[in-house]
Amino acid sequence: MIAHIQHLLRNNALFVEEQLRLDPGYFRNLSEGQHPAFLWIGCSDSRVPPDRITGTQPGDMFVHRNIANLVVQTDMNLLSVVQYAVEVLEVEHVIVCGHYGCGGVKAAMGDAHHGLIDNWLRTLKDTQQYYWKELAPLDEQARFDRMVELNVIEQVYNLGKTNIVQGAWKRGGKPHIHGWVFDLNSGFIHPQTSMINSDAAMQEVCKFHNGIVGA
Ligand code: CO
Repeated sequence: MIAHIQHLLRNNALFVEEQLRLDPGYFRNLSEGQHPAFLWIGCSDSRVPPDRITGTQPGDMFVHRNIANLVVQTDMNLLSVVQYAVEVLEVEHVIVCGHYGCGGVKAAMGDAHHGLIDNWLRTLKDTQQYYWKELAPLDEQARFDRMVELNVIEQVYNLGKTNIVQGAWKRGGKPHIHGWVFDLNSGFIHPQTSMINSDAAMQEVCKFHNGIVGA
């Protein structure tokens, strides 16, 4: 584990050296602009670096991260990122990616107070309440895992209902939106939704999910 700040700058110098060795024009090309095909909305958790787990390179992916990968309709930061990615960069895909073991989801499921963050996580309590019938019979670990999955599905739904995505779908059936969960125990990503690029497909979200539970 890297804990010293000097180590980061040393690694950066090594990164530059390696990239230039592979391609002397690498940074010149990189500085010319970006045309990413993907927008990633993920958790801030240090164990879920989007580029590492998907094998993407600088320029491939526009990224927004917050605690528990929430799509909150009043979050100007997130909405600005989505608007720019969808309308200006014209990304093909938007991925909401949660992860098992998410501290934000866990905090929202408990009664302990954590300060300001409790306000941010409040919508997760609504999700828990909404799906309580399904969650109640599960043991603690299974309930936690399921909440992570349901949270991703809820955020995909929130994303699809933004006027930004609604408008883009009406204009051209883009972007496709996806709900994924990263498994820290195995390293694999588990899709929770099919590819969605219309209101009709949004309605299938839960149906699709029910189909793959236990598969
Ligand atoms: Co998390």
